Amino acid sequence: MTVDEKVGQLNFYVGDLFNTGPTVRTTESDKFNDLIKQGELTGLFNVHGAAYTRRLQQIAVEESRLGIPLLFGADVIHGFKTVFPIPLASAASWDMQAIEKAERVAAIESTAAGITFNFAPMVDISRDPRWGRMAEGAGEDPYLGSQVAMARVRGFQGESLSEAKTMAACVKHFAAYGAPEGGRDYNTVDMSERSLRETYLPPYKAGIDAGAATIMTSFNELNGVPASGNEFLLRDILRGEWGFKGMVVSDWQSINEMVAHGNVENIAEAASMALKAGVDMDMMGDAYLEEIPRLIEEGKFEEKHLDEAVRNVLKLKFDLGLFDDPYRYSDTARESQEIRAKQHLDVARDVAKRSIVLLKNEDHLLPLNKETGTIAVIGPLANNQADMNGTWSFFGEAQHPVTFLQGIKNVASPNTEVVYEEGCDLYDDSKDKIARAVSAARSADVVIMAVGESAVMNGEAGSRSNIQLPGIQLDLMKAVVATGKPVVAVVMSGRALDLSWLDENVASILEVWTLGSESGHAIADVLFGDYNPAGKLPVTFPRNVGQVPIYYNHKNTGRPYDGDYSEPKSERVYKSKYRDVQNTPLYPFGHGLSYSTFEYSDIRLSADTIGFDQTLKASVKVTNKGPYDGEEVVQLYVRDLVGSVTRPVKELKGFTKVMIKNGETKEVEFEITSDDLAFYTIDMTHKAEPGAFHLFIGSSSERVKQTGFYLKN
Ligand code: NOJ
Repeated sequence: MTVDEKVGQLNFYVGDLFNTGPTVRTTESDKFNDLIKQGELTGLFNVHGAAYTRRLQQIAVEESRLGIPLLFGADVIHGFKTVFPIPLASAASWDMQAIEKAERVAAIESTAAGITFNFAPMVDISRDPRWGRMAEGAGEDPYLGSQVAMARVRGFQGESLSEAKTMAACVKHFAAYGAPEGGRDYNTVDMSERSLRETYLPPYKAGIDAGAATIMTSFNELNGVPASGNEFLLRDILRGEWGFKGMVVSDWQSINEMVAHGNVENIAEAASMALKAGVDMDMMGDAYLEEIPRLIEEGKFEEKHLDEAVRNVLKLKFDLGLFDDPYRYSDTARESQEIRAKQHLDVARDVAKRSIVLLKNEDHLLPLNKETGTIAVIGPLANNQADMNGTWSFFGEAQHPVTFLQGIKNVASPNTEVVYEEGCDLYDDSKDKIARAVSAARSADVVIMAVGESAVMNGEAGSRSNIQLPGIQLDLMKAVVATGKPVVAVVMSGRALDLSWLDENVASILEVWTLGSESGHAIADVLFGDYNPAGKLPVTFPRNVGQVPIYYNHKNTGRPYDGDYSEPKSERVYKSKYRDVQNTPLYPFGHGLSYSTFEYSDIRLSADTIGFDQTLKASVKVTNKGPYDGEEVVQLYVRDLVGSVTRPVKELKGFTKVMIKNGETKEVEFEITSDDLAFYTIDMTHKAEPGAFHLFIGSSSERVKQTGFYLKN
């Protein structure tokens, strides 16, 4: 290979179908054809379609000098044409089988359309709901985040990368992209190495351990060094400590953006720094293509770094089987049979209903009776197809999703009258439609309000400084609630929202995130009780944005406050607290109700002391007190009471989702070893320290039974 051909293998462009970033290199397909012929492109992303990808592949294989096949990449973040719930939603299912199954379907559909390299899973931990990309991850917790990362990688990659129905996963965004200052996308990240290792890195590591073939760098700087030139992250940790042997891709022009960050003077320096740090593929930057050959010629860059990157890229193409059959993934027959196949939509409906979290259900307003006389369905998201697909669904088509209104109409009895009013617009602040909504509510026995965020209000570049219902939706809610009719709020969002007003004033609240193709069917399954909701929050819901960042696994502080807020406002209380809001969240991590009540027994431990090589068994009996069959996510937390460095007040260490029939009792058992208790100690070694621990089991991070044990040397 010539130097130019080698560099060509590192050069990755967006295609001509749609755009997911600020700059487009070219929109003329002919231009791609020339670049492919000249060996200047390793692949294209966001292109799809069996026939189209086959045509492009043919140019690479038959008309370029070396005949190296192209990679076709895409952001299949929550399904291809069958659109699944956004990742934050499916994380709320705490159901790893359901998640893996959905990603398997995503891979089957994507690969039929030629896509071999998926820019997912996004595994960035986020404790800040202002950040719009919370929608794409699994929330705030490293343990849950790691389980979800593994399930997604298994789903995308299956048993072997070379199979026609599997695609390479890409764990992203390495690293700590989910912790930008102020929750503003692309902003600076500054954190201790201990926080990085303990909270943010585990899900990337889990994805890599599950076999992810690739990883993507992030836009942010970390402690002064942008991730795409960060040797500490890419060499020391990723390749050194974790032994990653796969391929590293930059994010969209993130190599070039180092110039704006200000750690390099020009793109030549950026290219050199990134390639040396171990970024193999340059997404959309042209930095390698334009700078590396010249730098090598001038003796300013060692070709061995280039060779290493090319090897990683070619190995990926070999592992995908592209050298055996470059057309393996472009199958028009499969494409026409498999995309949006009935069984795929069934999977979408199943995972969608599992993603719904019942936040509140006063007086058992839900489930609704299918024979209800009149149901008013109100809100800008009630009869809205396009927004059901959510952020990152460039393949999903606007005419496909089932709306909430349609789903409700399908299931309500033929005798039920279902009336609909939009109530207000998502973007326009006019209050003209509120009066009609109020009169529809007055005519009804129950009102379902579909409110929240549209697809563009979260996701990339979707940060918000106010996390209440957008626009005038709260005014609409207030007007409808004032009718005195029972109201069910169906809240769509890609983040934790401030739902304080709703919590105080609305009888039932379902957090439905964004549910994808089968939105209406899934919501109807839950509203009418054909499915008993079992989702649990993967993120803490604050009382207001001023509490952010708020997360369950916080430290205790030297002046913890667990008072009841009854002190006179004129007093000064010298505790870690706000003067105007409680410390507790509105809804804690792990919270989620069922139509049944689950009763937990006290915790039974196999011992009160364990050694470093012993296993502790902790069990509870969970009884479904009825009145329905249902699933419960039983959660295990621990607290290390004294450490060489301070430890969080609770840390999730395990969970099990169990189906318990009405009236039945099931015993749930967890095992804990000293490995589960390890952390980064004062000298940064990762190990457990002997001492006392609290152990909690329960139905959320707050509703728990508690006991304790000792770890002894
Ligand atoms: C930028 C995003 O940060 C990344 O997640 C995505 O994969 C690329 N754009 C390509 O669309």
